[in-house]
Amino acid sequence: MFKRFKITVIGSGATGATTAHLLALKELGDVVLVDVVEGIPQGKALDMWESGPIERFSVNLTGTNQYDETAGSDVIVVTAGMPRKPGMSRDDLLKTNADIVYQVVEKSSRLSPEAAIVVLSNPADVMAYVAQKASNFPPQRVMGQAGVLDSARFRAFLAAALKVSPKDVTAFVMGGHGDAMVPLVRYSSAGGIPVEALLSKQVLDDIVARTRTGGGEVLSLMKVSAYYAPGSSLAEMVKAVLFDERRILPTISYLNGEYGERDLYVGVPAILGGNGVEKVLEIDLTAEERQAFQISVKSVRDPLSLLTY
Ligand code: 2OP
Repeated sequence: MFKRFKITVIGSGATGATTAHLLALKELGDVVLVDVVEGIPQGKALDMWESGPIERFSVNLTGTNQYDETAGSDVIVVTAGMPRKPGMSRDDLLKTNADIVYQVVEKSSRLSPEAAIVVLSNPADVMAYVAQKASNFPPQRVMGQAGVLDSARFRAFLAAALKVSPKDVTAFVMGGHGDAMVPLVRYSSAGGIPVEALLSKQVLDDIVARTRTGGGEVLSLMKVSAYYAPGSSLAEMVKAVLFDERRILPTISYLNGEYGERDLYVGVPAILGGNGVEKVLEIDLTAEERQAFQISVKSVRDPLSLLTY
């Protein structure tokens, strides 16, 4: 007897709701939307579900303020927590969101002991670490979402500069999900052509700078954090895990010696599949790239050292 996949999305704010709707539109599985606010997950899930006849998806969406209905989930997506407000850094959310993420992961993981966990709540690299501690799941089954989003921005900016389809631009970002992130120009290409052969250094430097502050740019425009591209990024990772796609995606992954780092979650190229992070890919870095990565790692270790998990 085959059953549909089950995906729990914790946090029914803009990102959680956008993610839930995308998961349904892509028919990745039945979606359970969770939030502490009475009526919000129930109302949003019902509204999305009612788009089913038009969008022609067969999956179910339900909303709840409890965790019972999340039992047996294949993937748990965590968006719960405070989003940034203008003038805030992601690290400003640390203590508040660490407590929230710990709580929601402890409650949900207990009911879905085989699930993979994908964390978006910020600061995402640290929240992935907290989620692993709260669930005590094998570290490969706990990951954070940031690199797919940052890389999407990087690719979009490159495509716009090249006046080509973003479909044909590949690029990725390493390091922590913050202003010290490392967009890797050297590993970026358009239709297989290195972007360094297509764009001037000044244009590339400007794109790298815009990528690093991509979240802040949206935040300053609409005074709330981005949620469409983050939602798409989460759906991409959920699909890779549910369908064992073995996608190479920048993922906040647990490092156990890779890149010379231990006991840390940070954004690195990884293979995502049915086991979660199947493998962290250790790519060659120039001295300059490695230094930038190490600076970015420090920007993750510093807030991490403030936690007691
Ligand atoms: C961003 O970069 C929300 O951190 C997320 O937009």
